[in-house]
Amino acid sequence: MAFHLSYRERVTRLTKLDRTKRPVDILAIESSCDETAAAIIRDGQTVLSSVIASQIETHQRYGGVVPEVASRAHVEEIIAVIDEAMLKAQATWESLSAIAVTYAPGLIGALFVGVTAAKSLALAHDLPLIGVHHLAGHLYASMIDDTIEPAFLALIVSGGHTELVLCEEHGRFERLGHTRDDAAGEAFDKVARAMGLGYPGGPAIAKAALQGDETSIALPRAMLDDSYDFSFSGLKSAVLLHLDKAKKASRPVAIADVAASFQRAVVDVLLAKTALAIQRTGVKTLVLAGGVAANSTLRAELLQLCEELGVRAVIPPLWLCTDNATMIGAAAYFRYQKGEFDDLDLTAKANLPIDQW
Ligand code: KG4
Ligand code: ZN
Repeated sequence: MAFHLSYRERVTRLTKLDRTKRPVDILAIESSCDETAAAIIRDGQTVLSSVIASQIETHQRYGGVVPEVASRAHVEEIIAVIDEAMLKAQATWESLSAIAVTYAPGLIGALFVGVTAAKSLALAHDLPLIGVHHLAGHLYASMIDDTIEPAFLALIVSGGHTELVLCEEHGRFERLGHTRDDAAGEAFDKVARAMGLGYPGGPAIAKAALQGDETSIALPRAMLDDSYDFSFSGLKSAVLLHLDKAKKASRPVAIADVAASFQRAVVDVLLAKTALAIQRTGVKTLVLAGGVAANSTLRAELLQLCEELGVRAVIPPLWLCTDNATMIGAAAYFRYQKGEFDDLDLTAKANLPIDQW
């Protein structure tokens, strides 16, 4: 090995030779929020291994993710998680073609842990490095079970983001709309917390809503004229006000009814904006992505909407909706095919719009 060459020179040489190598196995690392995850993905679609160490129990006692606690937990878990992913896939450093890592957006301290691990391993083993945008990862989670061809529209709904994205070429995105305040998942989490339903709020609200009447409480839907942007803070505040009034009047709160009415309002807005974007862009494929894509009402109604509009709906399996490293490996594969690699100056970024990836 020519150690007098820089990392970039060594990897460029190797990569030129290596990109003809088949299969392409990518080690992917994800640590942007409260899951420490690693996976080995073959040719962008086959999961050789996927390991997720969730910190949910740690954060539950605080009612939400505490950034500093998350960073420390990532530091404690990351080596074991990567080791386990390598072992389960029976991978060796020689068998890998690249290392991919989520570098933006997310909790800065949490992201740094994954990025530092990925850069260290890339340097030590002369492997190309691919920094992946977390939302592009969510979007490409669907590539594991399906094949999506551009042009497509993606509705990305997670704990930190709510976006409508147009993709006309793999790996290149145009952001049509985004939330102006709270993300949909964030609103689920805050409303659930106010009702004492615990963290994460999305699954708790979805469960409570099953027993509730979704027409029982009148809640606002921010449509923001005909823009593709979202706003969920008004809806969240309306729920908090409703709870507050009941408390002051010593009236019992019908938790299931509030949950059902809130979920109805969120789904109504997501469907209305998506329908508008489908009709205006004329795309024939809609991809649903992100943690809130695990919501069964949203999944069912989006499928129905797409059927009515004559559009193919691509919805990831439940285990790929919330944070995982499999989706990061799937997204990285497009970069790998184009030979688009990062250097060791890759750094974590708390904020980065998907169109700047
Ligand atoms: O994508 P994700 O795992 O993390 C981020 O990138 O933010 O999304 C987590 C979010 C949380 O806000 C959680 O409450 C929400 O996804 N979520 C759900 C459901 N499952 C998870 N929201 C609504 N219904 C669900 N079934
Ligand atoms: Zn996520």
